[in-house]
Amino acid sequence: MVDIKTPIKIGTKTLPNRITFAPTVKFDWTDRSGIAIERFAQHYEARAKGGAGLICVEATCIHPEGRLAPSQLGLWEDAQIDGHRAIVEACKRHGAVIIVQIHHGGYNTHPDCGPSKGPSVVEWRGRTTEEMSIDEIHQARDQFIEASIRAQKAGYDGIQLHACHSYLLDQFFSPVVNLRADEYGGSTENRTRLACEVIRGIRDACGDDFLISARVPGAEPTLEEAHKIADFLIEAGVDYLQVSNGIGPDESKTPEGLPFNHIVWIGTQMHAYVNGRVPVSVVNGIDRPELARYIIANNLADTIDSARALLADPEWARAVTDGTDYVKCIRCKRCFWSPMMEHKCPAVMERRKTDPTCVD
Ligand SMILES: Cc1cc2nc3c(=O)[nH]c(=O)nc-3n(C[C@H](O)[C@H](O)[C@H](O)COP(=O)(O)O)c2cc1C
Repeated sequence: MVDIKTPIKIGTKTLPNRITFAPTVKFDWTDRSGIAIERFAQHYEARAKGGAGLICVEATCIHPEGRLAPSQLGLWEDAQIDGHRAIVEACKRHGAVIIVQIHHGGYNTHPDCGPSKGPSVVEWRGRTTEEMSIDEIHQARDQFIEASIRAQKAGYDGIQLHACHSYLLDQFFSPVVNLRADEYGGSTENRTRLACEVIRGIRDACGDDFLISARVPGAEPTLEEAHKIADFLIEAGVDYLQVSNGIGPDESKTPEGLPFNHIVWIGTQMHAYVNGRVPVSVVNGIDRPELARYIIANNLADTIDSARALLADPEWARAVTDGTDYVKCIRCKRCFWSPMMEHKCPAVMERRKTDPTCVD
């Protein structure tokens, strides 16, 4: 029987267990150069040492004009490779598979970094957006591929496309905010075209040994539409789907009485739909070891992804696999966004009392 400790093969890589560290940005840890400093390597190494089977490094921008914050990490130029290499080398000492999430904000680009630009002209969170030309879409595609080549040079086992949470690739998926009438809008095939071109381009450039995963919406806006999107990505060659939320409006209803929330539920629906074609991961609020074990033991997903539990306690994965004690995330949301964790996480502050040198 499969349990949380059972290794899993994803693409050509084998995760030693079913627990993955979800991407979490640390804005303000670096400057506008987007270069990862040593603190990032220490932060990720602590989670790899703590037993997570896969580490996904935070949303890392493919172009300075797609950043969510001026200090977001980048992979848009070669000068950024060495900082990532330090993260990879630190994590590899502990047996984890390590990937990096590559990202473009699209409409959500920070006003100090670039225009709010994506598939169409829409009213979006108080701004009127601009429509990308076909040339600009092709440039974005090439930038995703070039960032992946840099990720491979840094030693990463693969990348995760940030294709949910209302960022550029998700904006293309959404029939609500992608109003294009050309080959990048309209049918599901057209709305997934950019992501599929990116996947095929990365595969050609980086080879079969490079893990290509995508963090996708479980409903966009419906479950059925998200499942069709997944079909196209799988057809294009994606190795792994990690399911979170999208733009919506998601009107699907979670059955009552489940031990997890709606976002995990839509992930379980994706897992059932994909039916073993590629592994599928679920995320959101999985912060109790019993729940993590339950999801895997009941074949509701292939891996579980956790963010805040692992921010609060870098050794949380060990608590899941071996039943050791752990520091509980109290869901205070002080870690949310910028300035991320200037030691505001109560669990980090508590650890500092006994170990002033402990990493974030
Ligand atoms: C501080 C912080 C930063 C985050 N950064 C990212 C990110 O870079 N990319 C991403 O896809 N999700 C990001 N998220 C969302 C998490 O990956 C995760 O989906 C969410 O926190 C729910 O999971 P959890 O309940 O285990 O924390 C972030 C969440 C937090 C709290």
